[in-house]
Amino acid sequence: MNARVAVVTGGASGIGLAVAQRLARDGVRVAVTDLNGEAARAAAEKITAEGGTAAGIELDVGDRAAVERGFDEVRRQLGPVAILVNSAGKEGYRRFLNISVEAWEQLLRINLTGTFHCCQVAVPDMIEARWGRIVNISSSSALGGQPFMTHYVASKAGVIGLTKALALELGPEGITVNTIPPGFIDTPMLRRSEERGLLGDSVDHHASQTPVRRPGRPEDIAATAAFLVSDEAGYITGQVIAVSGGRNT
Ligand SMILES: NC(=O)c1ccc[n+]([C@@H]2O[C@H](COP(=O)([O-])OP(=O)(O)OC[C@H]3O[C@@H](n4cnc5c(N)ncnc54)[C@H](O)[C@@H]3O)[C@@H](O)[C@H]2O)c1
Repeated sequence: MNARVAVVTGGASGIGLAVAQRLARDGVRVAVTDLNGEAARAAAEKITAEGGTAAGIELDVGDRAAVERGFDEVRRQLGPVAILVNSAGKEGYRRFLNISVEAWEQLLRINLTGTFHCCQVAVPDMIEARWGRIVNISSSSALGGQPFMTHYVASKAGVIGLTKALALELGPEGITVNTIPPGFIDTPMLRRSEERGLLGDSVDHHASQTPVRRPGRPEDIAATAAFLVSDEAGYITGQVIAVSGGRNT
């Protein structure tokens, strides 16, 4: 019962799911939160069946009231939040001149404001404990730029800025804040983009152009996140730790 509690947003799929599974294996009590409540609960049940402790909670990160309700539910079921991994996100592909104001605002609301909401709602528990770990999943596209993704790239660049500023403010409280910008990780998001012909080429072709010659695996991100939320990583904060096989480096 003394194990720390982690909230993973977007925990029902891809990177978030791998992070939730990995943290549970490391002995952390995990709240798998996602817009897709059914998938979040199924993921939590699977983690529990494998010997971990998890709760599945439906939560739209872009809706402040839902975030507050969801985190209260986490506290009720598992305890105060010590670790937050913000993985919930939505991709967007459109020529710049065709990005509607609505599409711009939607991506900013989910990817950037969603990260803001979850950090602001989780941080009081961490301040109280004088210990906390936040890992924000940004994107390697925010480091190198990406055509036809201006709204997405801007939202993820915002996540990098948020991470750096928050790290400076929360360092004295015993809380670290870092960001992992993934590059080309084989998840349902990436495969959806491939199927819709939005990658310009196949995943296999892109992998052949990647310095390490393979797509990333969600477990690659999970391993890095697991380190960043550990006690051992307490002197690392405000950092951009790319896990991208050398892409956009
Ligand atoms: N896969 C990649 O190559 C890649 C590269 C760079 C960045 N990323 C980022 O990594 C994160 C995870 O992506 P993934 O590839 O695992 O995608 P994914 O689509 O497999 O998983 C994303 C999860 O987020 C959830 N989600 C979406 N909107 C939400 C909302 N408003 N509230 C709560 N949950 C919501 C979805 O339901 C889904 O379960 C995203 O932020 C994405 O932008 C991924």
